[in-house]
Amino acid sequence: MGIRHLIDFSNIDVARWNELVKLTNEIIDSPQDFASACKGKVLATLFYEPSTRTKFSFQTAMLRLGGSYIGFDNAENSSVSKGETLRDTIKIVNNYADIIAMRHPYEGAAYAATLYSSTPVINAGDGGHMHPTQTLADLTTMMREKGTLEGLKIGICGDLKYGRTVHSLLKAMSLFKNNKFYLISTESLSTPKYIIDEIVKSGNSYVECDSLDKYIDEFDCLYMTRIQQERFASEEEYLAQKGIFVLDEAKMKKARKDLIIMHPLPKIDEITDEVDFDPRALYFKQAKYGMYARMALIKTLLSEDFELPERPVPSNLNNVFCSNHKCITRLEPNLPAQFGGEEGARFCKYCDFEAIEWR
Ligand code: NCD
Repeated sequence: MGIRHLIDFSNIDVARWNELVKLTNEIIDSPQDFASACKGKVLATLFYEPSTRTKFSFQTAMLRLGGSYIGFDNAENSSVSKGETLRDTIKIVNNYADIIAMRHPYEGAAYAATLYSSTPVINAGDGGHMHPTQTLADLTTMMREKGTLEGLKIGICGDLKYGRTVHSLLKAMSLFKNNKFYLISTESLSTPKYIIDEIVKSGNSYVECDSLDKYIDEFDCLYMTRIQQERFASEEEYLAQKGIFVLDEAKMKKARKDLIIMHPLPKIDEITDEVDFDPRALYFKQAKYGMYARMALIKTLLSEDFELPERPVPSNLNNVFCSNHKCITRLEPNLPAQFGGEEGARFCKYCDFEAIEWR
């Protein structure tokens, strides 16, 4: 069975990933062969949260496949501002578009859309949860520049708590073998438990530390991220975390000659200007790889057979609740609660947060 949506990598195994990489490489090597691959198809970009590169990257990807796009990038200008539910918006957009790319400030929103959508849904970022198409850009970069996704030493630095690109990168890289992750952050912005659990389950190794210098001479790849200001409860909390990790020339002198530096962008103050001119800085190229990876994804999802989902079944556990106040089920209580795991260790299927059981 193929993939119907791309939400969080749970439905992608190594074989599927390798097919996507192969197609991405074919597109990079001869984009003209794909100029009509999605002719007549329409992509809807539903961006409930700001974006520059991700939205443009999706739209350009569709145009370069011969398709076209519709969409909004400010929910205030759509019926959402009149109180329309996500379910209704999706069902309306299904009438007009063949595929949806969606970004939302609430965690689990893209998963919620899949429960009702009669077309494929791509998660273009759901709150601080996941951002799988950024990961396609990241993995394509590593594959093209390092030639492998195994046996790598990868430093990941910055906001590992709210950074959705970090969560989906770690989840995807855990599909591959013998990688070592160096998780560099302050204690309060460290990696969530559900992601650490994925690394442990996969047999890859990790170390958590609060210094960018300490292991920099070991890395094959260094993934820098910005502190996610918009996810903090107050300006004060953000300012306490800002500017702690900065990649500068002095640190680059200690790093390997064949290091690659990645960043999902936008960058704020975590990389100094002079590092942009270092040939090891690949983040602008990474954004270009992202467009090709999105072309491969759109083409793949549009070639799969698609059946209308059955009406979703709500959990019968009336004493269980999601603990995440930024979960889409809090914003839209009509969505059917769904939990995975077992008694004592249940999690919300929308956002992966721990579920609370009232006894
Ligand atoms: C990232 C995002 O939106 O999470 N940006 C992007 O999609 N390229 C990273 C970020 O905003 O820090």
